[in-house]
Amino acid sequence: MSSPAPPAERPGSRIYRPWLLRLVYDLVVLRLSCRMVWGCPEKRLVREYREHIGDVHLDIGPGPGTLLVKARPRPGAVLHLLDLNPEPLRMSEQRLAAFTVHTYHADALAPWPLEDASVGSVGLSLVVHTLPGKDIAAKAHVLDEAARVAVPGGRVFGSTVVSSGEGLRMAWPARRLSDAYNRAGIFDNRGDDADDLRRELEVRFTDVRFRVHGTVAVWSARTPA
Ligand SMILES: C[S@@+](CC[C@H](N)C(=O)[O-])C[C@H]1O[C@@H](n2cnc3c(N)ncnc32)[C@H](O)[C@@H]1O
Repeated sequence: MSSPAPPAERPGSRIYRPWLLRLVYDLVVLRLSCRMVWGCPEKRLVREYREHIGDVHLDIGPGPGTLLVKARPRPGAVLHLLDLNPEPLRMSEQRLAAFTVHTYHADALAPWPLEDASVGSVGLSLVVHTLPGKDIAAKAHVLDEAARVAVPGGRVFGSTVVSSGEGLRMAWPARRLSDAYNRAGIFDNRGDDADDLRRELEVRFTDVRFRVHGTVAVWSARTPA
């Protein structure tokens, strides 16, 4: 695991403990909450991975690696995994042992420890809403870094729970859970607006595909060739 100086833990990091990741994440977060609370089924996220993952892929905030496993990368694929918390890195590395895996214990809001134009694809699934920042512009560093490390014509894709913007449908359970997660420091997305995200993508990338499913913005784009 590469880690020049381990990043500081954040309050919301408590939920990425081993037992929670093992017992709760796949069932409660990906299967149930995605579909029933946030309005975007897990299979929609898996579809993005299957369509866009490259042979050399960087995943930011892989969690327990479930979507990467379900993406079925090609044999021989090289997977770079960057996460603020060590346990998701350990767990993803174990589950993806069939591939060449490089892990980075680092903060996505700091410079990424990867060379320019070094990966074919970058995944940012369900991670932007966890990053501290008053709005999408304050978190756009991750898009700058994705644009920097992806090869020209590379794929950048992701999903995030937003709080406002065109196409958003937020039923009261989603509003209540989002408020509770924001109070607990698990989310920081009160200022995350879908239209802002789309604009930030369009100024950096080409071929932007963007859609809001329930409360989840799902996007893919390419770095300029
Ligand atoms: C909700 S999980 C998403 C997991 C996975 N991408 C998925 O879609 O199932 C958020 C992940 O982002 C990581 N994370 C949170 N803040 C981060 C930061 N500032 N830098 C890097 N990773 C972060 C967490 O440790 C966790 O692995």
